[in-house]
Amino acid sequence: MTEPRAEFRVRVRPGVLPAGLRVLEQAGLEPELGGLDLRGVDALLCLLTDRIDERVLAGADRLRLVANMAVGTDNIDLEACARRGIAVSNTPDVLTDATADLTFALLLAAARRVVWGDRLVRGGGFTGWRPELGIGADVTGRTLGIVGPGRIGEAVAERAQGFRMRVLRSGRRAAPDRVGLSELLEQADFVSLHVPLSEETQHLIGEPELRRMPTHAVLINTARGPVVDERALVRALREGWIGAAGLDVFEREPRLAPGLAALSNVVLLPHLGSATVETRNRMAEIAARNVVRVLRGESIPNPVGAAPAAGLVR
Ligand code: GLV
Repeated sequence: MTEPRAEFRVRVRPGVLPAGLRVLEQAGLEPELGGLDLRGVDALLCLLTDRIDERVLAGADRLRLVANMAVGTDNIDLEACARRGIAVSNTPDVLTDATADLTFALLLAAARRVVWGDRLVRGGGFTGWRPELGIGADVTGRTLGIVGPGRIGEAVAERAQGFRMRVLRSGRRAAPDRVGLSELLEQADFVSLHVPLSEETQHLIGEPELRRMPTHAVLINTARGPVVDERALVRALREGWIGAAGLDVFEREPRLAPGLAALSNVVLLPHLGSATVETRNRMAEIAARNVVRVLRGESIPNPVGAAPAAGLVR
């Protein structure tokens, strides 16, 4: 197998884990840590916080691949890449279980007031067991609505079986057990979001949707913040349209909508879905392997969008 030519320039964004850098170095490449001025750069290994838009691509005169160290690619203008013949890759599958685990952690924490209880104990407010102290909601045997049953949504559904939950699914693909979003919102005790962010899914959950949910319902979002109208969610939580929420992602990440952090019926996490040692290392390795493959002129297993991802060696 031919190694990519050493003169290829690979830009790696600061923060990409050493596991990814090692893959590049073992292939004889010399990764350059740096910014998004991509003049003369052949491949970019970037993070989901990097906005790869027309402005960035305008300076990319040699770029052949944008390898995102994430499964979501909403940070990348896929159309603009396709127009320029720049391939895009992501890191699916390896983060499915970690993200599904974290979804359940949020669901349980929100339902059973785990964070509230931790704060109470640390603050010296636990003065003894009382029957009504910290009462939350049952999880076992309840109804879970999965919005966007793709890889991660299905992995969440799998975990729900252990809690003997009834699972409802709502998504684009037709299947006999699918229900419409309205029906799901009306029937589910827990609603978990797993759609990619697009024009179609932005504010998929806004005031009308939140008002459809039962007043005890719990909303979990480990997908992308803008899928939820966060200002409407603050009102829903404050005014009791729904019972609680668990959020790993935010509409204007890392900023929070006014009032969100003051609410005690929401659990807030700093985008930790795939944050395990093993998963993040694998993500970095996969993104780096995609770079190596494209620079060798090989196809990549996980292209995103329309541009060709093979035969790119010049
Ligand atoms: C995380 O949010 C990812 O898209 O990988």
